[in-house]
Amino acid sequence: NLTPSSSIKDWAPAPTSSISRFPIQPLNQFRGASASIKRPREVTHFSYDATHTYVEDESGINYYCPPRIGADLKEGFDMFRHYEDTTDPHLDSLLRAVASKERKTGVKEHADFVTWRGMMTKLMTAPFDMFAEFEMLATLHDGTIYIEEDFPSRAAQRAQEASRPPKWQDPGLPNHKMMTYWGYKFETLSLLPTPPSSTPREVINARGTAPVSNYAQHCSIVRTSIGPHKLLLGGEVDGLSAPKPSPSSSPEGNIQIPWIELKTSEALPPHPSHRDTLKFERKLLKFWAQSFLLGVPKIIIGWRSKQGILTGVQELETGAIPGMVRRGTGCWDGNVCINFAAAVLGWLREVVKEEGKVYRVRLGKKTGVVEVREEGDGGGGIVSREFREWRKEM
Ligand code: A3P
Ligand code: MG
Ligand code: MG
Repeated sequence: NLTPSSSIKDWAPAPTSSISRFPIQPLNQFRGASASIKRPREVTHFSYDATHTYVEDESGINYYCPPRIGADLKEGFDMFRHYEDTTDPHLDSLLRAVASKERKTGVKEHADFVTWRGMMTKLMTAPFDMFAEFEMLATLHDGTIYIEEDFPSRAAQRAQEASRPPKWQDPGLPNHKMMTYWGYKFETLSLLPTPPSSTPREVINARGTAPVSNYAQHCSIVRTSIGPHKLLLGGEVDGLSAPKPSPSSSPEGNIQIPWIELKTSEALPPHPSHRDTLKFERKLLKFWAQSFLLGVPKIIIGWRSKQGILTGVQELETGAIPGMVRRGTGCWDGNVCINFAAAVLGWLREVVKEEGKVYRVRLGKKTGVVEVREEGDGGGGIVSREFREWRKEM
């Protein structure tokens, strides 16, 4: 005790900062019937316009109209208007839309968790993805846990992907960037701003030469539950396969919105090997989880050749995917994902329990353990000031 403080620094063990760990294995504990889940119901929505500015309307909604098969998904790459966040978006637009809804109804949209759908997708799919990694921040505010992606980690990951050496044959074309483009090009070829029945033929045909941009978006915010946990989730929806039913068409609000999720994937050969099927079914895990969480009933796959030519489209019912995989390679199990998600959320409620602290939620590649550690005091900007003030006023 009399040791000078300088040597205490040298000898004392690192302060036991409280780290809580949630091991993913063994998966058997999560098998069996899934925890109760409710069909997600839309609470509100918003769009981003062509400058990626938040707008509180349906202007970002697009309608599905089958694309021309044989189209080249590489076309127009040099004109790609690629939006990427340069500052931390936190949960701001989601909370802004929720506050706006609350102003209209006067009713507080309480939930145990509020986050972007993407965070839940990462949590849910972790049991079947050895390479999964994430860094999130969580904070407890007024009885609700708010979870966001750690923006610096995402920016670093993006920079790393962008700097990977190109595999693509064309000189100077980074593989990753072109693959990102393909996905958005497929969306542009498959969507219209108005229902196809009321869209002039010229407009439909002009999609092939339209510039591709991901600035505009439409986001749906849903209320859902996983086991005993109530969630408010916000996420981008690609389009509608039929007009959106008005909320008044079902007083209980139990309506299925015919959202679609568009995905590109490399076409399978006529006689796929086990390896081909496995690769595709692993991809289906992400497709399914992402759509399941927002209640998107249909996924439309754009099959493409290695060179990026659209060779066909296929519609999959989101709800049928887990069964398909069970009868196929069995490489993942949707019930395990749901039960795991319910268990992780329960654990987070035990761990993220001090108001006004920021917690880091982390999964390192191949570690198999989700870790939570205290990051610091203050809200960390996770819950916007605008939203806090609104809730105080309520
Ligand atoms: P694909 O999924 O068809 O490749 P989303 O499918 O979620 O609607 O996203 C649309 C497109 O954005 C994707 O289309 C892909 O091109 C791009 N994209 C989404 N997430 C990405 C990521 N993590 N890295 C690279 N591109 C991504
Ligand atoms: Mg999308
Ligand atoms: Mg998509």
